[in-house]
Amino acid sequence: DPARMEKIVSLCKRRGFIFQAGELYGGLNGCWDYGPLGAELKRNLKDYWWRKTVQERDDVLGMDGAILTMQQVLVASGHVGGFSDPMSDCLLSKARLRADQVPAQDGTAVWFSGAKLPASGWSVERQFAVLVAPGKDPIESHKTARKFYGDLMPDKKVSPKELELVEERREELTGTTSFNPENGSLLTEPRQFNLMFQTKMGASADDNDPNAIAYLRPETAQSIFVQYKNVLDSNRVKLPFGIAQIGKSFRNEINPRNFTFRSREFEQMEIEYFCRPDDGLRLTDEWLEARLKFYGEIGIPREKLHILDIPDGERAFYSQKTYDIEYEFPFGVQELEGVAYRTDYDLGVHQQHSGKPLLYFDEETKEKFLPHVVEPSAGCDRTVLALICEAFDEEEVTDEKGKAEIRSVLRFVPRMAPIKVGIFPLLKKNEEQVRICREIQAKLQPWMTVFYDDGGSVGKRYRRQDESGTPFCITVDFDTLGENGDELKGTVTVRHRDSMEQERIAVDALLPWLLERVR
Ligand code: GAP
Repeated sequence: DPARMEKIVSLCKRRGFIFQAGELYGGLNGCWDYGPLGAELKRNLKDYWWRKTVQERDDVLGMDGAILTMQQVLVASGHVGGFSDPMSDCLLSKARLRADQVPAQDGTAVWFSGAKLPASGWSVERQFAVLVAPGKDPIESHKTARKFYGDLMPDKKVSPKELELVEERREELTGTTSFNPENGSLLTEPRQFNLMFQTKMGASADDNDPNAIAYLRPETAQSIFVQYKNVLDSNRVKLPFGIAQIGKSFRNEINPRNFTFRSREFEQMEIEYFCRPDDGLRLTDEWLEARLKFYGEIGIPREKLHILDIPDGERAFYSQKTYDIEYEFPFGVQELEGVAYRTDYDLGVHQQHSGKPLLYFDEETKEKFLPHVVEPSAGCDRTVLALICEAFDEEEVTDEKGKAEIRSVLRFVPRMAPIKVGIFPLLKKNEEQVRICREIQAKLQPWMTVFYDDGGSVGKRYRRQDESGTPFCITVDFDTLGENGDELKGTVTVRHRDSMEQERIAVDALLPWLLERVR
């Protein structure tokens, strides 16, 4: 549903969840900045993951590795040689496309707005010109083209000027192997494009000095494998045990898209769980269950998740089992996390390339062997996006004057909500109400995020908090001060975001009442 996604993107900007990086200067493609609410949301997710994965388990230890990574590490892991996507250039738009996303011959599209038909055999549907190959159903061709190009570059438009250029170059394009009049293809032969960002370390004078080359890590996993032995030796842990890490990874994606879903800089939450070879398959299934439970706890219901059991022949060659956990985003069902049984492949290649033994010695059986590994690898930004998509809702309500209006609300589970409590004096000019609000705020703030607001009507303040996803709002009013008798003195109104129902709670009872609901 593209309309829903548009609303979500615009709410994210309006309320300060997510902005495009460098927006002031036109934007840096594939990079995003989290604003105040987005930063809180992302932190809640990472904290909860860390708590559940590391702090509440005694078989998983945490680490925090360097982002800059030695070339040798990534040669051994296979990233320098093979971490690439096939890429083609579109000669018309100058866009670079992932070749595996290029449409089949029929339904190949060139997109431009309000254009004339460039040649017979092409028909125009809004901004698309679609090639209908001889003997093909034109409707089906249009559908193919729409799907691919709509997904690929929703905002890509070619100006009429460029179209003229196409007309001018038609002969030339037709004459080259890259323009195939049979199928309308304007794409170059695919070539491999390495997705890693390379950089230089230090002030080495020699540009080709291999020791001066470093990479921004393309996954957090490698530092875990490289430090596995140090963690083992310094912590005296026994198999099975895991090492977990949260941190930034970088991939020079050819087509970043779908808001933050595919970015060039993103965060991962990864666990490498080391085990005996015989336990690998069973533990993969156990981790899948643990991860599904986690998604439920952060507000992503089981029925919106799809589990893909990747069949033989489609998994990485070293993997004996891989599950993808996918979520129903508004732009389609897409991967949130992979849970992969990677056997002893990673430790094996690092042992081989470093020449240092990475064997585990079992005290009881006196055996020495390379542990196998199960890897649940989640994307932090993708999960934040899923949380926002899942939480976003619009409903018709009546405002204070009885008029129908659309209420837009983010229904985060309280433990994920960026702000836990809004706190309002009914009247901002009433000093006593303001004083009590400030007192409550000071009492709650060491425990949770609180937002004080005295601007506009209380109804408007509620709406603003609804859009921020704040589960509870507290209002201090005349009853709190005891101005309407003693019965409600010292109590406040607590309004629930989802039901919009209100109840009175004693000021002294607020902290435990809220803690029970927001942790
Ligand atoms: N260590 C294994 C690994 O990195 P992956 O499937 O390439 O596996 C794991 O990545 C997760 O990282 C993905 O499921 C996804 O959530 C996230 N991820 C990968 N590439 C991403 C990108 N370009 N933008 C945002 N998240 C990404």
